[in-house]
Amino acid sequence: MSELRYDGRVAVVTGAGHGLGRQHALELAARGAKVVVNDLGGDRSGVGASAGPAQDVVEEIVKNGGEAVADAGNVATPEGASGLIKTAVDAFGKVDVVINNAGILRDKSFKNMSVDEFDAVIAVHLRGSFLVSSAAWSHLREQGYGRIVNTSSPAGLFGNFGQANYATAKMGLVGFTKTLAHEGAKYNIKANAIAPVAWTRMTEDLLPADFAEKVGVDQVTPLVAYLAHEENPDSGQVYTVGGGRIAKIFVAEGPGYGQQETLTVEAVRDNWAAINSADPLTVFANVGEQMGPMIQLLTS
Ligand code: NAI
Repeated sequence: MSELRYDGRVAVVTGAGHGLGRQHALELAARGAKVVVNDLGGDRSGVGASAGPAQDVVEEIVKNGGEAVADAGNVATPEGASGLIKTAVDAFGKVDVVINNAGILRDKSFKNMSVDEFDAVIAVHLRGSFLVSSAAWSHLREQGYGRIVNTSSPAGLFGNFGQANYATAKMGLVGFTKTLAHEGAKYNIKANAIAPVAWTRMTEDLLPADFAEKVGVDQVTPLVAYLAHEENPDSGQVYTVGGGRIAKIFVAEGPGYGQQETLTVEAVRDNWAAINSADPLTVFANVGEQMGPMIQLLTS
């Protein structure tokens, strides 16, 4: 079987100084990509900054015979995001792959969550992914090629205690990914998202300790690398990945209840079972398709 290579490709990986991003950067570089290793270098909650983590990963890549440059910009700011894409273009002439991975945690029960704790998490995960993708977008469109991988989370897709800020950002990234997939389609830009589980400084006190070796970051990166490859056929999808397992996560709709008379509160009550039915589920490819059943009802 042929090896998947990235020779001639330029990849930008955000938050690549530690954890998952570091592993993505090392893997892509080992397979021939020129990599921009971005990391602000703060702590897990996003406090502080240091050029060290990005530089360390670049040194590791170069030592292994790869090509990489460091960028210590903050992806949550327009200057940081545009500076990051400029670093790629200045160093390597273009950008082909954007992996939006940078993230922080400010967990609090909703009762105690401050506006600052909400905003800080949205800023890095959601705004940061928007800003970096936005800065790269014109390059990807003009060259008629791009691969974007966004980092969502099971916490966003299914909800998690103490993570109203984080879950909001992570589910926001699903809508963001699906929309970029639609808008990028005619330019051969593919956007997908992952919902990973891995042992990193972000999760080391959240996951059971005996999981550490089994849920390594190396169990996530192969999916990210495949989604970032030219051969990846799919766009607008979300995959959960970790501990040796990968599965697609669907946003699906039930058969529902439809009637032509004016809807009443009593009709909602009396048809609650049909409204909540999950048999069968339909996965729609776009908003137009999703409106299909309603239009059918209105025109029948
Ligand atoms: P990590 O803390 O090891 O890595 C995150 C990196 O992002 C750090 O190196 C940090 O310095 C960098 N960063 C933070 N704010 C930044 C900013 N404004 N600009 C540039 N860099 C910044 O954590 P981990 O686990 O590797 O997380 C990577 C991504 O995966 C995050 O988006 C996280 O939410 C997501 N994720 C991780 C899961 C896990 O099980 N480890 C589960 C679900 C999602």
